[in-house]
Amino acid sequence: MRKYDHFFEKTERLILRRFNINDTKYFHFYRSNSEVAKFQSWENYQYHEAKTFVNEQIKNNPNQPGTWFQFAIALAETNELIGDCALHTLLNEPRIVEIGFTLSPEYQGNGYANEAVCALLHYIFNSLEKHKVIAFSDVRNTKSIAVLERVGMRREGHLLQNYMSKGQWIDEYQYSILKSEWEGTTYPSTSETK
Ligand SMILES: CC(C)(COP(=O)(O)OP(=O)(O)OC[C@H]1O[C@@H](n2cnc3c(N)ncnc32)[C@H](O)[C@@H]1OP(=O)(O)O)[C@@H](O)C(=O)NCCC(=O)NCCS
Repeated sequence: MRKYDHFFEKTERLILRRFNINDTKYFHFYRSNSEVAKFQSWENYQYHEAKTFVNEQIKNNPNQPGTWFQFAIALAETNELIGDCALHTLLNEPRIVEIGFTLSPEYQGNGYANEAVCALLHYIFNSLEKHKVIAFSDVRNTKSIAVLERVGMRREGHLLQNYMSKGQWIDEYQYSILKSEWEGTTYPSTSETK
């Protein structure tokens, strides 16, 4: 079993931790997959982009207004990277944050995204004490919508032609959950920051 020094959250099967340089190859492997990129802004994700991204994330800290912080999702047993989830702290209202998530196709279909997003919400509401979490999903992204609804987020808007992706205006749903809605709900067990 591989040891890890630090994690933000731990669940039965997963940890949310910082990216490290050894993650670069696998991060590039799944980000460059066309199915993973289908409803995202990027395409043909290059290795040098992955390298720059990981190097930036190593230096960044979560909860900095106006920035995104990307957590590595890793298997708790082995510390292997399986995906990532992101926290965007809004510049003008840092008590509200936006999230996003991606899993390598090799690990989809096992409830890992559900578990990781619950852990992320736990971290956001319990450790960072935020007021509200929002997420945007392409209306065609049924897998993403399923994750958002499974963790208890509410659809609170249908935003017409809200962003340009691959030369096309895309409709998005906005999902959200308030701290008051999250409290008292039972989710998979998480451990506090180590
Ligand atoms: C969005 C994304 C993370 C969803 O991944 P996913 O694997 O479908 O989601 P989960 O890991 O929560 O797994 C749910 C599936 O595992 C199944 N499952 C198996 N074991 C499970 C368990 N122990 N617990 C919960 N679900 C389990 C569920 O039934 C569900 O299957 P279904 O889709 O046939 O209903 C993935 O499609 C992805 O990375 N897409 C590309 C990036 C993207 O578009 N991100 C969204 C941007 S907001």
